[in-house]
Amino acid sequence: MRIADIQSHIDHELVSKERIEELINRTAEQVSRDYRGKNPIMLAVLKGAFNTLAALSQAVTIPVQIEFMSISSYPAGKTSVSEGDLDIRMDLDCDVRGRHILIVEDIIDSGYTLHWLVEHLKERGAASVEIFTLLDKTSRHEVEVDVKYPGFAIPDEFVVGFGLDYDEQYRNLDSIAVLRSEEYMDPTQEQDHQDQGEQS
Ligand code: IMP
Ligand code: MG
Repeated sequence: MRIADIQSHIDHELVSKERIEELINRTAEQVSRDYRGKNPIMLAVLKGAFNTLAALSQAVTIPVQIEFMSISSYPAGKTSVSEGDLDIRMDLDCDVRGRHILIVEDIIDSGYTLHWLVEHLKERGAASVEIFTLLDKTSRHEVEVDVKYPGFAIPDEFVVGFGLDYDEQYRNLDSIAVLRSEEYMDPTQEQDHQDQGEQS
């Protein structure tokens, strides 16, 4: 059980809370302009994007509808979780036909999750589907994702904070950081963890 102060688990900070706030405010101005009069749906995929959705939705000056989805992946026989088939565990609460949707994401890695989600929402009849992502591991993309509101491009390092977890911890950190190597589980436990196939 990790009991020490959260800061003592961190190796180095990648994006400060001030820079996150500045990005969110700048994006909120654009979103408020672009979606004025459209009553958009702001949609987050649980759990990682909950904090970014909360921050962006409070920074915009227009009315928005807040929705969440939970998505599972089944990586059996695949080399990564993201290559698995994606499946909805908890659907959003409304009919999206004719609606303008802004997906708010924590991070893009391979891009499989968002690639699938954008197509899925369009098939269900959304009028438009755009993306804001807080972080983007641009060197890791395996499929093309069109991001209208880009956040911070980061290197291929595992990060936590501002909603992002490692083993369900560190989501409450108010910046983006890389953990000290001692915090990671040994590789055999890590495998068990990934086999659960949860999106987060
Ligand atoms: P993608 O389908 O490969 O783009 O998966 C993106 C998802 O993987 C994110 O929404 C996160 O849940 C998870 N993820 C990817 N990189 C990280 C990371 O560095 N820290 C925490 N979660 C991550
Ligand atoms: Mg996510």
